[in-house]
Amino acid sequence: MKIFLDSANLTEIREAVSWGAIDGVTTNPSLVAKEQRDFFPLLREICETVNGPVSMETTCRDADGMVDEGRVFSKIHPHIVAKCPLTKEGLKATRQLAKEQIRVNVTLCFSATQALLAAKAGAYFVSPFVGRLDDISSEGMALIQDIKTIYANYRFSTQILVASVRHPLHVVDAARIGADIATMPFAVLEALVKHPLTDIGLERFLKDWEKLPAEAKAWKSPGTAAKSAVQGDILSGQGKRS
Ligand code: E4P
Repeated sequence: MKIFLDSANLTEIREAVSWGAIDGVTTNPSLVAKEQRDFFPLLREICETVNGPVSMETTCRDADGMVDEGRVFSKIHPHIVAKCPLTKEGLKATRQLAKEQIRVNVTLCFSATQALLAAKAGAYFVSPFVGRLDDISSEGMALIQDIKTIYANYRFSTQILVASVRHPLHVVDAARIGADIATMPFAVLEALVKHPLTDIGLERFLKDWEKLPAEAKAWKSPGTAAKSAVQGDILSGQGKRS
């Protein structure tokens, strides 16, 4: 399963890229507004930072407006995917943009019927919002399972992008179901890394390492003759295991 970061914050995006953790980025008008930056330079920088699709939402209610925005976005960078909402106008715009080979992420999907229509319109991604469904006591992950079954039944190529992810269990469930992508905020991505047993284990290993006599680990001390000697051996191949 691919992992996307749901953020328009370049510090977060750069950090996640440095972990080799993300395959793309999703944004929405609320996330972009938080950054308080000039829109196009921000979008371009995000596209240049991540080596994968970057979804940017159109902000019109009518299909013609969405199509115009989608065309403009697509010229900014090859990574761009235009987002259109799951409305009648959004479907019209998706159909037109798909005809023009502009990739569309159909967003704000809350039902299996909506997902079916997004696929028929030619969506590249469909974004079902699991967290917002959970918020209203409707099981978000059940929708992912339904969409997965429907798309498999009819071999739709639209990729399922699980959105509105709120915690690591959403990510595990999405992967179990076989969703193509999960997009998540930086805090959730960080939570995927953390495990208390990793921290406890690392502390113990490092404490035990300190018990080694100083001369046995002199090779680690910067600027010492021991360090230079070890580095010299390694570079000349003498440090290799037999
Ligand atoms: C996805 O593209 C959306 O930006 C996002 O996942 C919405 O998440 P939220 O429901 O936590 O706002």
